[in-house]
Amino acid sequence: MKIIASGSIKGGVGKTASAVNLAAEATRWGARVLVWDLDPQGSATYLLRVEHRLAGRGARGLIAADATLGRHVRATTVDGLHLLPSDRSLRFLDLHLDAGGERHRRLADLLRPLHDAYDVVILDCPAGASLAFEGALRASDVLLVPVIPSTLAVVTLTQLEELVAARAPRPELLAHVSMLDRRKPLQRQIADSLLERPDMLTAVIPNSTAVEQMGPERGPVTSFSPGSVAARAYRALWRELSDRLWS
Ligand SMILES: Nc1ncnc2c1ncn2[C@@H]1O[C@H](COP(=O)(O)OP(=O)(O)O)[C@@H](O)[C@H]1O
Ligand SMILES: [Mg+2]
Repeated sequence: MKIIASGSIKGGVGKTASAVNLAAEATRWGARVLVWDLDPQGSATYLLRVEHRLAGRGARGLIAADATLGRHVRATTVDGLHLLPSDRSLRFLDLHLDAGGERHRRLADLLRPLHDAYDVVILDCPAGASLAFEGALRASDVLLVPVIPSTLAVVTLTQLEELVAARAPRPELLAHVSMLDRRKPLQRQIADSLLERPDMLTAVIPNSTAVEQMGPERGPVTSFSPGSVAARAYRALWRELSDRLWS
């Protein structure tokens, strides 16, 4: 089982779009896939048409000493893709992680029993450097960081690289260009310089109305518009990422 955290300190950069589309792409490839929506906003839960609610005691019960994640897992409309849904109580997840012991290891410990049930787990992280994010870093093989081509996003990527480098054990940080608008020269220029960095994947996700349509369609772009430029880009991103994961 490989664990990918789709995360960034920044919000609105395409973490959830990547998590959902890559998960769908991984199922097409034959993998058994779980998306864990760790964001109280529940965007992945919404896009995958699952109720925004955890059974039992919400976030507190989710990570309690006697917790099993399996009871919260739901099937989605995408074959082979399961979801551990978000709940509004996840906004207190950091408090519960802090109160329970081994706060950095808790998410990794909870995921361990699922090892034989899934080939790929994608953690859709909330923005920010929270305890939940630290836990996701600890649990993951790869931290996948979508980077929009703007100066401040590049600054944030450098901060994230430093944050991850200071962790042990740490995931491999891999980034990708997200929401590139090729009509804008500055964006093209920043994307080109990003692609020279060693931790960048070469697949670029364009700014695309097909990705925006995920909201009204409530599904992965690879399902409702498989021939779109965006779907092809996510397919290329998954190929590259899976090559790195299983090389
Ligand atoms: N490649 C893209 N092209 C156009 N819009 C996008 C793209 N990726 C994401 N979006 C839109 O940007 C917003 C933020 O995306 P999202 O994946 O939720 O970001 P995050 O999870 O990082 O907060 C959403 O409204 C989404 O539809
Ligand atoms: Mg999100």
